[in-house]
Amino acid sequence: MNFLEERIRKDGLVKPGNVLKVDSFLNHQMDINLLDEIGREFKRRFGDKHVTKVMTIEASGIGIACFVAKEFGVPMLFAKKSKSINIAGEMYVAEVESFTHQNKNQVIVSKKFLSPDDHLLIIDDFLANGCALQGMISLAESAGATVEGLGIVIEKGFQIGGRVIRNLGYDLESLAIIDAMDAETGTITFREQ
Ligand code: G4P
Repeated sequence: MNFLEERIRKDGLVKPGNVLKVDSFLNHQMDINLLDEIGREFKRRFGDKHVTKVMTIEASGIGIACFVAKEFGVPMLFAKKSKSINIAGEMYVAEVESFTHQNKNQVIVSKKFLSPDDHLLIIDDFLANGCALQGMISLAESAGATVEGLGIVIEKGFQIGGRVIRNLGYDLESLAIIDAMDAETGTITFREQ
């Protein structure tokens, strides 16, 4: 078991509906020492890539992506969720559907901060259906930027996102992959990696 799997077992809570609560250490209250270790682990995994920018999506990805960006010594750029449609022109726009929240968001980044010279490491806290990652990949494509890799903290391996993104040929690394969880017993089964 790696450091993250250990922490999930210790402090993660399995809720009905295949939801894992990690808000005591990852996406509400944040354990800074853990984020530091996560940053270093992504640097270890993607250190041979040419990364000019770390990209994520608001809100929960931001804290994690900052620690990763610090390891690489590059800026962190986060896609903003926006309801406004009056932004085309200055912004790259992609549509992201959330299955969990049953809504659609436009996500945007300023054209000032993404260009064909950029080589991106995309980071997020959770991968479920992959909509957030697809949205960020689409923003990168619009800008002509290169996606060097994608780093996820917790992948829900029983949902389709991981398979879809890997089948598209992207280098996707997840620090913990959950193959099953049971809200009644609280058991979590991690995929051997
Ligand atoms: P997807 O991006 O992989 O397709 O995920 P999906 O639409 O299914 O999930 C929507 C939101 O719920 C995402 O956050 C995702 O990170 C989060 N999520 C999915 N499964 C879980 C889970 O088991 N536990 C927790 N804690 N979160 C989960 P978001 O709403 O886009 O962003 P944020 O503002 O919360 O960062």
